[in-house]
Amino acid sequence: MRIYGHRGAAALAPENTLEGFRAALSCCDGFECDVRATLDGRLVLMHDGFLERTTEGTGRLGERVFDEVRALDAAYRFRPDLGYPLRGRGVVVATVEEALREAAGRGRVILELKALPFEPGYDPDEPVARALGGLLGAGARGDIVVSSFNPFALKVFRGLAPDVPTALLVPAALEAASGIDGAAAAGHKGCHLAEALVDAPAVARARDAGLEVVAWTVNDPARVRAFDGWGVDGIIADDPVAAVEALRASGERRVLGVSRDEVDQASTESAARAVENSNRDASPM
Ligand code: G3P
Ligand code: CA
Repeated sequence: MRIYGHRGAAALAPENTLEGFRAALSCCDGFECDVRATLDGRLVLMHDGFLERTTEGTGRLGERVFDEVRALDAAYRFRPDLGYPLRGRGVVVATVEEALREAAGRGRVILELKALPFEPGYDPDEPVARALGGLLGAGARGDIVVSSFNPFALKVFRGLAPDVPTALLVPAALEAASGIDGAAAAGHKGCHLAEALVDAPAVARARDAGLEVVAWTVNDPARVRAFDGWGVDGIIADDPVAAVEALRASGERRVLGVSRDEVDQASTESAARAVENSNRDASPM
């Protein structure tokens, strides 16, 4: 079973930042991150459509141009725990291109399209899916999966980047069976199930449908081990070190030889590197 860090590695580093991506890549098989667009159409990685929860900024991400967003401190709200250790260290809102560059040859990137029809500012023309499809359709690099709760966004994306695997996200409010059947009928490669939906029959149903099964967000070591036993292909975890340790304890995981302290150290060092990198132009791939 593969392990992917959630929003980079949200328990170990500021979410959706290069620091988090590096932390995940240093200890597991890759990471998941959230794709949104700025007012001027740049694809950046941020979970919320608003700036407040993760940065010192306010208001909607989609109403700010990239340079404004890039000037924000993406570690501003990262607490551990409440010393805010990475504030003012140059941790910036990352771009899709930067995430892919970081992961190239090192692990999988799960890019979640965050266009949700009930969100303020949602555009049914799916501009985020179009922009990501344009970027990756021109030649995706590396091990990439594009996921979304929004089947319309995935359809638009696939029209532009048919060679990039896609996965339908299934929230806990839905039935596992309907999500799995819907993912298979739409031709997705994977089905990313909410943790609460995962049981042995659901995994078997998805496998029978030829789908790769990924569970999110899995932070309970007992559930990590159970999912592995049921044949889940991958889990998305806030703390990928803990997930690796859970599998290692069951004898099912290769010994990576990476300790939590080493990952923490790597995250801190990468924050320092970010100070230099933040001045570098985030040029397209
Ligand atoms: O990709 C699965 C998971 O990340 C979806 O939940 O809210 O953390 O984006 P959320
Ligand atoms: Ca996500």
